[in-house]
Amino acid sequence: MIKLEKGGKFYTTRTIRTLALNQADLSVVAGDFLAIMGPSGSGKSTLLNVLGMFESLDEGRLFLAGENVAALGYARRIALRRRLIGYIFQSFNLISSMSVYDNVALPLQYRGVPKPERRQRVDQILAVFGLTHRAGHHPAQLSGGQQQRVAIARAMVSRPGLILADEPTGNLDSKNSRDVLEQLKKINREGTTVVMVTHSQEASGYANRVLTMCDGRLA
Ligand SMILES: Nc1ncnc2c1ncn2[C@@H]1O[C@H](COP(=O)(O)OP(=O)(O)OP(=O)(O)O)[C@@H](O)[C@H]1O
Ligand SMILES: [Mg+2]
Repeated sequence: MIKLEKGGKFYTTRTIRTLALNQADLSVVAGDFLAIMGPSGSGKSTLLNVLGMFESLDEGRLFLAGENVAALGYARRIALRRRLIGYIFQSFNLISSMSVYDNVALPLQYRGVPKPERRQRVDQILAVFGLTHRAGHHPAQLSGGQQQRVAIARAMVSRPGLILADEPTGNLDSKNSRDVLEQLKKINREGTTVVMVTHSQEASGYANRVLTMCDGRLA
């Protein structure tokens, strides 16, 4: 599903050059549930952004579902992302002008799922995450934990082949955390590959394996 070879990513500001990814190697087979841990600033979000094709590599190579990402043009990268990936951002990235319902329905719309089926799947996943009564709200009208659950619902609703989750339980109480982790486990059992960044030992316990990131590299 994922093959990253000697991935390098630099950020250069006027005064500092940061090696956010430093010769990072990662191999994830289809059906895996991988947790990535590591200190703040070690490059975990950068890695997920690269895997989600939101950032490009400065060095090395990335293959996703057999495709060499660098060889794809912009349009084909977006098409691959929409077809393959559900992404849970550390900062949610909900669309502020759209309701909870429309945010969650968007990935299904991208895939051309007909409206009746869309409605059924959105209603179902909103119920799973206890958000039914918030369907008509806009993101700014929600608590941080509610926004996080909307972002998770949006990533899962299309049952993608790959979920990339950046601290998906970072804003949740222990009951909601457990619910989210159970849902990730369930979708993983049904065939979705999951890569989850987390600071929580409890969350990493749901994964099949745990890797630690340190100074832009995976160990
Ligand atoms: N757009 C950017 N411009 C400059 N530096 C950046 C940028 N994005 C990230 N960095 C730097 O790259 C390094 C890795 O950042 P990243 O967000 O990947 O860390 P992280 O492991 O996700 O941390 P956290 O656990 O706090 O979320 C950090 O030192 C950060 O300051
Ligand atoms: Mg991060």
